[in-house]
Amino acid sequence: MTTTPAFILKPSRPVAARTVLRLGSLALALAGAGALTSIAMAAETPSAPPKSEINASVGTGAKFVPPPESSIPNDEFGKMVKLGRDIMLDTPKYAKAYVGNTLSCVNCHTDAGRMAGSAPLWAAYVSYPAYRGKNKKVNTYEERLQGCFMYSQNGKAPPLGSETLVALQSYSYWLSKGLPVDEKVAGRGYPNLPDPAQTPDYVRGQKVFEAKCAICHAADGQGQYVNGETVFPPLWGPKSFNWGAGMGSYKNAAKFIYANMPYGMSYSLTPQEAWDVAYFMDAQERPQDPRWTGTVAGTRAKFHDSKFSLYGTKMNGKLLGDIGAPKPR
Ligand code: HEC
Ligand code: HEC
Repeated sequence: MTTTPAFILKPSRPVAARTVLRLGSLALALAGAGALTSIAMAAETPSAPPKSEINASVGTGAKFVPPPESSIPNDEFGKMVKLGRDIMLDTPKYAKAYVGNTLSCVNCHTDAGRMAGSAPLWAAYVSYPAYRGKNKKVNTYEERLQGCFMYSQNGKAPPLGSETLVALQSYSYWLSKGLPVDEKVAGRGYPNLPDPAQTPDYVRGQKVFEAKCAICHAADGQGQYVNGETVFPPLWGPKSFNWGAGMGSYKNAAKFIYANMPYGMSYSLTPQEAWDVAYFMDAQERPQDPRWTGTVAGTRAKFHDSKFSLYGTKMNGKLLGDIGAPKPR
């Protein structure tokens, strides 16, 4: 079977030309993988709105629409905005020095950081400076960007004022044109997800993964690559986000997954399935937390004192995070 699922070819809102190109290569890879239609059909419910209109923004109440890419000015500032967009779309290429995995920002901030309900950059931009419990201080927007490099990208922080951060900041500023400064903007972060009826469970999560995720992210969760380019990003293992990342909280992951995954089929999982599969994903090994204190127990006590982090817990007889010091970067 080689039919390309329609949801891949028809993005639900006007998206940038480059995004369409990316989606095109995803479609090719999917056609190769085949068999996606069965997942698509499983998600069909008689009274649901057309699938093409279901994306992460549904239910967030977001009204803001960032400007079209065609309106990026043709000047020095516009060049910086475009570089920021390029970094979002292909982080290992355009921010190579600061990246230690094969993920790109867009893998978790979909549609080049435009999509409401997928932690869009425009909502973030108008929300800083802000206090963060993670590093116990007021963070500027640049400092918040540094965090995603250290943890989500398993890399290192680009220096303040570096071209990489200036570009991402310029892009975010440009995206948020017309939006009032207010951290309560609709569409920020991920939509709320009801608490699970049953305690999240590894075995149930594994079943969801096998039925609804493995086709793209591969049976071993390591993603899929075409000519060295990430087509489907890895969910765990050495090329994924590290133990310090926001996605390593299975609550965050469940919210992201519920609104954004399977790709193109937002809100098709039940909340329970989203919790279970997030738990399963975050119960796998991944690169060490760069804040490593020298022991798993010490690192857990200091940075993972939350029921939503499985770091330092026993899972199927193995101590998660027991992989030694972080690799030098
Ligand atoms: C593995 C997934 C992942 C990757 C890759 C990733 N992020 Fe994030 N990012 C997150 C999560 C999770 C959050 C927290 C969202 C929340 O708390 O609602 C976040 C938060 C943010 C925020 C703050 C959002 C807000 O509303 O406060 C910004 C800005 C951001 N990321 C930018 C980036 C940039 C730029 C890159 C690429 C260099 C990147 N991220 C890569 C997962 C990721
Ligand atoms: C149709 C293919 C497809 C399916 C099925 C799918 N994903 Fe994804 N997933 C993607 C793509 C593509 C991205 C990156 C999105 C982008 O770059 O715009 C992604 C990104 C992600 C990310 C953030 C990046 C990372 O690697 O950590 C997570 C987490 C994730 N998917 C989890 C899941 C889970 C859990 C399921 C099953 C419920 C699932 N996905 C099903 C294609 C898919």
